[in-house]
Amino acid sequence: MKKKVLLCLLSFCSLFAWAQRQETLLEKNWKFTKGDAPEAVQETFDDTQWETVTVPHDWAIYGPFDRSHDLQNVAVKQNFETQASVKTGRTGGLPYVGTGWYRTTFEVPAGKEASLVFDGAMSEARVYVNGKEAGFWPLGYNSFHIDVTPYIYTDGRKNTLAVRLENRPQSSRWYPGAGLYRNVRLVTTEKVHVPVWGTQLTTPHVEASYASVKLLTTVAHAGDKDIRIVTEILSPEGKVVAVKDNTRKINHGMPFEQNFLVDAPKLWSPETPFLYKAVSKIYVDNRQVDEYTTRFGIRSLEIVPDKGFFLNGKHRKFQGVCNHHDLGPLGAAVNVAALRRQLTMLKDMGCDAIRTAHNMPAPELVELCDEMGFMMMLEPFDEWDIAKCENGYHRFFGEWAEKDMVNMLRHYRNHPSVVMWSIGNEVPTQWKPEGYKVASFLQDICHREDPTRPVTCGMDQVSSVLGNGFAAMLDVPGFNYRAHRYVEAYNRLPQNIVLGSETSSTVSSRGVYKFPVRKRGDAKYEDHQSSGYDLEHCSWSNVPDEDFALADDYPWTIGQFVWTGFDYLGEPSPYDTDAWPSHSSLFGIIDLASLPKDRYYLYRSIWNRKSPTLHVLPHWNWQGREGENTPVFAYTSYPEAELFVNGKSYGKQRKLTREESQALQGKDSLWLQRRYRLMWMDVPYEPGELKVVAYDASGKAADEKVVRTVGKPHHIELVADRTELAADGKDLAYITVRIVDKDGNLCPMDNRLVHFSVKGAGTYRASANGDPTCLYLFHENRMPAFSGALTAIVQTKEEAGEICFEAKAKGVKGGKLTLRTVRE
Ligand code: GAL
Repeated sequence: MKKKVLLCLLSFCSLFAWAQRQETLLEKNWKFTKGDAPEAVQETFDDTQWETVTVPHDWAIYGPFDRSHDLQNVAVKQNFETQASVKTGRTGGLPYVGTGWYRTTFEVPAGKEASLVFDGAMSEARVYVNGKEAGFWPLGYNSFHIDVTPYIYTDGRKNTLAVRLENRPQSSRWYPGAGLYRNVRLVTTEKVHVPVWGTQLTTPHVEASYASVKLLTTVAHAGDKDIRIVTEILSPEGKVVAVKDNTRKINHGMPFEQNFLVDAPKLWSPETPFLYKAVSKIYVDNRQVDEYTTRFGIRSLEIVPDKGFFLNGKHRKFQGVCNHHDLGPLGAAVNVAALRRQLTMLKDMGCDAIRTAHNMPAPELVELCDEMGFMMMLEPFDEWDIAKCENGYHRFFGEWAEKDMVNMLRHYRNHPSVVMWSIGNEVPTQWKPEGYKVASFLQDICHREDPTRPVTCGMDQVSSVLGNGFAAMLDVPGFNYRAHRYVEAYNRLPQNIVLGSETSSTVSSRGVYKFPVRKRGDAKYEDHQSSGYDLEHCSWSNVPDEDFALADDYPWTIGQFVWTGFDYLGEPSPYDTDAWPSHSSLFGIIDLASLPKDRYYLYRSIWNRKSPTLHVLPHWNWQGREGENTPVFAYTSYPEAELFVNGKSYGKQRKLTREESQALQGKDSLWLQRRYRLMWMDVPYEPGELKVVAYDASGKAADEKVVRTVGKPHHIELVADRTELAADGKDLAYITVRIVDKDGNLCPMDNRLVHFSVKGAGTYRASANGDPTCLYLFHENRMPAFSGALTAIVQTKEEAGEICFEAKAKGVKGGKLTLRTVRE
């Protein structure tokens, strides 16, 4: 009986808490139209003819692809171009330019305040509530919130929300997506409440035996009333480990400060992503008016000149990647399962850091990085006051830069994953003698809003920034490429550390290999692909080995962010000038279909110190090239390996030391690669079997890999990344579709068209093959394989049950697979 009363009491309490603050995702029942519709502002407007969509929604990802969508006649100055030329596929060849409108309705209970939070809206968002303009936010990537209390009905009537978005031509250097591509939330509260992003939590002192936690809570409409805040700190296991109960007045709008001690804290790090919670109950006149939860981690950050970066007192170097925000075939529409899949792959590679290039991320990404353990460098801008794109952010910078910075900083400053802010990427302002003033203005905003994290900027104009004071005034000088100038930068700058804010930009296509095998800049081929031997780069960039060496050889380098973890829509360098149909990047370590390229294993062999790597390339199907030289590479964490071709040994290769490799400089163009890769450069092709046996440091055989010449394509093999999914209408399974011979070996030259069907508790969402020239639309249920493989993505419905996925193609036996969906 007692139990029952307690339960009732508990549920009454939670109902009460629910009633004070309610956060609702506005996901369903949106109406959408492409084109301008100013009359849609009116409450009485009839939108029944518009398309019904679910938000997040990217209006442009459904295509069609077309060369004419995003022609840009420009000289890309950062890429050393001096004359304008026609850039094709620069933003993905998708129809993102133009105007779009969204409409929906929402209700607010009597006596409540209401805010709308947009996690991002692409772009130039104008928000109307019940016929009145309630807000405008130009930058499509930033989260913003609007207090809509003055415009709403709380008498039971529905409120009408209309949003106009406009993407101008020539406004981006990559695919930005279009529309309400991130979540929209309605937050209702009491009059006295904690506003959106209203707390600031820091851990000023961290040591093994205890940590101090400082929480600043802003309270809106407190007036001169006594405010009581009771905050409990919950450990990662959910136990209360500290409590404060304070009552005081909010002086001059200053936040309400509370300090805590947490004994024997479980420190947050990429390897131990422990998360605490501060749960604050706010009372006025003895009545609880709000409950606000701040999730946080306890960790310390330090940068020591000449020594580098320390997390919780431990030295480490960033093993990071840059990523654009698009999710390949899903476009820009955010999806947690897709982000989790990306992070899972990166984690296995040994990656521990993400740079959100060159814009604010989706909040779901930052939350996942907190939970899964990735350090983040958040970056707001690709442009300041000087244009890179004719209609880029420079049009807004003067009026909006501070507002954009403040939103980013307040939104994300409580997240343990965020360890550094970047104020911009390769901004032309860095060239100007006065450019440092703009940098200092932005850096000061970071310091004001968040005194705990260092600030950097991705700089590429080394001569300018070393000479004009721009680099010297940053907390952390960050260089994009220009690996050969790091030592000079270190010697000339006062900070005595260097960050590789953007590195590598190696180009390759999954499963495609070009001969002869050479290290080359700007290599182009008729098929618009780049070689999978990972030796090709752009004129401004380099291959991974140079960055590995910088990390290994100089204590003052604090690590790197590789361009890029995943391929993205747009920027198909080196096929970006009048080179349609190329329309997606070749820079990714992982391709647009989320399939790893060979390079994945090169990074894994160096970065993942927990689980060994042995990967062999190329594939062994070179009919017509019998007897021709076909080099074999092994990416491995083992120091030594031996190659056998059809049983005949081609000798052992061992990773060279720094000194040994340097001794080869001038004699061997791949002298540096010999430190990080095992390469047999003279191997005449003969069909059959490649076998690489790896030896550990004591010389014992530790692992082996076999690559075979395959037989005829025989059937389709299906492998799902997960077989049990949430029946929430959002969860995704990524299914790798492989054309294989009768023994299950991948047929790496097979590009046949595959058709899909999905039945039961899921729907077909999209597919991709990673070929940057492929114009098949992602959402149609067919896609050609590329190098023998592709990925199909299935999305759950809101019902528990089975999903039957089937793939068929002419000339081979089809494949079937069953997935299960369960309610949480
Ligand atoms: C950098 C730039 C990136 C991307 C990359 C390609 O200079 O910051 O946005 O364009 O080059 O290599």
